[in-house]
This record gives sequence, structure tokens and C-alpha cells, in this order.
Amino acid sequence: MDRRRFIHLAGGGAIAAASALTGCSSALPPEAIAAWQGPGEQADVRRWLVGHALLAPHSHNLQSWLVDLGVPGEITLFIDRSRLLPETDPFSRQMMLSQGTFIELLDLAARQKGLRAQIDLFPQGVFGPATVDARPTARIRLEPDAAVQPDPLFAQIFRRRTNREAYGAREPDAAALQAIAASVQPHAVRTGLVGAAQPEALAQHRRIAKEAWRIELVTPRTVLESFRVLRVGPKEIAQHRDGLTLNAPLVRALDAVGLFDRSVAPGPDDFATTSQIKDFNTKVDTTPAFFWLVSEGNDRATQVNAGRAYVRAQLAATAAGLSMQPLSQALQEYPEQAGTYAAIHQLLDAPSPRFTVQMWARLGHAPTIEPSPRRGLDAHIVKA
Ligand SMILES: Cc1cc2nc3c(=O)[nH]c(=O)nc-3n(C[C@H](O)[C@H](O)[C@H](O)COP(=O)(O)O)c2cc1C
Repeated sequence: MDRRRFIHLAGGGAIAAASALTGCSSALPPEAIAAWQGPGEQADVRRWLVGHALLAPHSHNLQSWLVDLGVPGEITLFIDRSRLLPETDPFSRQMMLSQGTFIELLDLAARQKGLRAQIDLFPQGVFGPATVDARPTARIRLEPDAAVQPDPLFAQIFRRRTNREAYGAREPDAAALQAIAASVQPHAVRTGLVGAAQPEALAQHRRIAKEAWRIELVTPRTVLESFRVLRVGPKEIAQHRDGLTLNAPLVRALDAVGLFDRSVAPGPDDFATTSQIKDFNTKVDTTPAFFWLVSEGNDRATQVNAGRAYVRAQLAATAAGLSMQPLSQALQEYPEQAGTYAAIHQLLDAPSPRFTVQMWARLGHAPTIEPSPRRGLDAHIVKA
């Protein structure tokens, strides 16, 4: 075996795979997760709102949110185009969902302060279907309004995690599933859930998820895209506070002695690939339920609103003691995934292009985990 290729880890499964190899993981540097303590008192309420919104889920934890506070009473949101994922997200669909998750948490925080957030998407015109540009994603005007009610989902913002651990066999109960489905009601999306009661459909979910993950791991350019945002060990994690975090002792040790080469994608038969596939397959095969979110149409506003709906569903799951991990691979629009893309759309009765499966996630009970890094409030505020 090529020693340099002994340990290559990639993508959303990286953390899980590393833990599997070592049997343990280490605590993250405190400064990398300080944002989870909350923004504290802020003279400008908009900073308090942003300090909550930046805890939103984002593909590859890239936190592509830039806010301009130049106009009093307003927040203008832009996408940081240095943080795109062109290989796995060629049309920036997931980027738009990730703008939506931020907007939703901002709205929940505004409600908490008795503020009505008037959200205008693409106030200077909408991006085309393939690219994003320098125009804002949203302009949010804030006004005190005695009629605005706090949303109970606000309390879950600090507890929400993307959980990549193995899930227990216990099925989510009916009340939890109902609460998740009800949580997305403000947004025009269709959600669905599958569990042990539909064994054939469940088997199809597992089959497609595993095949899509295998494809991503044997496609060098998609693996290398993940490697570019991989942060290994406390120093890199504290320096970047974003991306995919690997902090298990064995990986750190291998990295320190140059045995973890992030410039080369591992081959399909390398241990790094086969071990990750095995780990992922085991987790998928023991996941008791899957959740999905489908939109009719796929324009930019629909994508943003799907992101808003997704984070609400995840917060509702959190409130019910459940965990989620998105499974984006089969939903991605790069050519190698065409077969799995078609399969998941067919399985969910969402024929493309009329419908788009915007999110697909495993759902279940999982052990408690640490939050993921955040860059902190000031990293998101555009300097005048
Ligand atoms: C649009 C979108 C797609 C995502 N796809 C995946 C995925 O395929 N696999 C995964 O493990 N996590 C996925 N995530 C979760 C992010 O990796 C996660 O939000 C990020 O690492 C921050 O972690 P947190 O959610 O625990 O705060 C996705 C999140 C979003 C918003």
C-alpha cells in the first residue's frame, strides 16, 4: 500500500470516519466554538440577530454570510463568493439554501426581540439559475411590532447540531414526526418521512444514499474540493473556524508526520476510501428514518425558502430529542450523480424538473456531540 495514501478522509463523513479509526475524538479549541455562547449584550440589536443567525447550518460549514449594516434599521445579506463549492454544488443551489438557513434564524431572533423582519429576497434582481453574483440575497428591514410573537423554535438554535454519529434503532415517535412536519408550514415545501413501517421504501433510501456517497468518494475532484476545506487539528481549526473539522488524535498524528496528503485523492480501493464507505454504509443501514423536503420549481427564492424550511425542521427535531444529518450527495447536480439524482427524485415522487428534492437527511436518536466551529460575529460584517 502506498503509505502516503494510507489516510485520506473526505466530505461530510470525515469526522465520523476519523472517530471510527481512533475510537475517540478530542475537544475543539474553545475559541472555535465561542460563538455558541451567544452574542451577549449588543448596543446594536442587528449584531445580536446576526450573532444568532451565524449558528445556522451551511454546506461544508463554509458560513458564506456577509452582512452590511450601513443603513440604520436594515440588514443587507450578501453571499461571500470566495466560499462556493463549484464541484459538488455547480449551480450554487446549496449555497442558496444556506443563505435561507441564516435568514430563518435571523427571523427567529428578531421575533424574540419583538421585531418584525420584512425580508425582501434579491432586492436588486435575482441571480440566474447557474451562477451567483455580487448583488444582495436579501434586504431585511426591522420594525418593532407588538403583534410579533416569539417562536418556540428559537430556544433550539443553540442545541441544534448536524450529527454524523451512528443513530440508535429506536424510531422517532409519531408526535415528533408531526412536529417536524408542522414546523415547515410557513414555507411552500412538501416534506416526507420514511421508517420501519415502509421496509421496501426504507431499503431504497439506504441503497441510494450509499451509492451516492460511494460516487462522491471515488470522484477525485469532489474529494479534493472537500480536502480544500478540511481543517485538521486544533491549530488549523482555531485559525479557520469553518469547514470540515478533523480533530481525532490519530489523524492529527498522521498529518503531523506528513502521512495525510491532502493534495491527492485516494483511489477507489485505498483503505481511506473503503473504510469510509464501510463506516457510512453501517450508519445508513442502522438509521431508523429518513426525512426529505421537496419544492415545486427550483428558482432562487424557492431554494432560499427551502433552506428556511430545512432549519425549522431540524430545530423541531432537536426539540423532540432527535438528530439529523443531511445526505446531499444524490441531490447534487454533477454528472456522475445523474443516476442517483434520478433515483431519489423517482422514489420521492418528485419528477424533475418540475420538482426538486432540496434536502434529504437521516433522522434518529444520536449521542450528544460538540457544536461545530464558527468564525464569529465580526467575520460576517462588511466594513464600511
Ligand atoms: C444545504 C446543506 C447541505 C448539507 N449537506 C450535508 C451533507 O451532505 N452531509 C453532512 O454531513 N452535512 C451536510 N450539511 C450540514 C453541514 O455540514 C453543517 O451544517 C455544518 O458542518 C455546520 O455544522 P452544524 O450544522 O452542526 O452547525 C449540509 C447543510 C446544508 C445547509
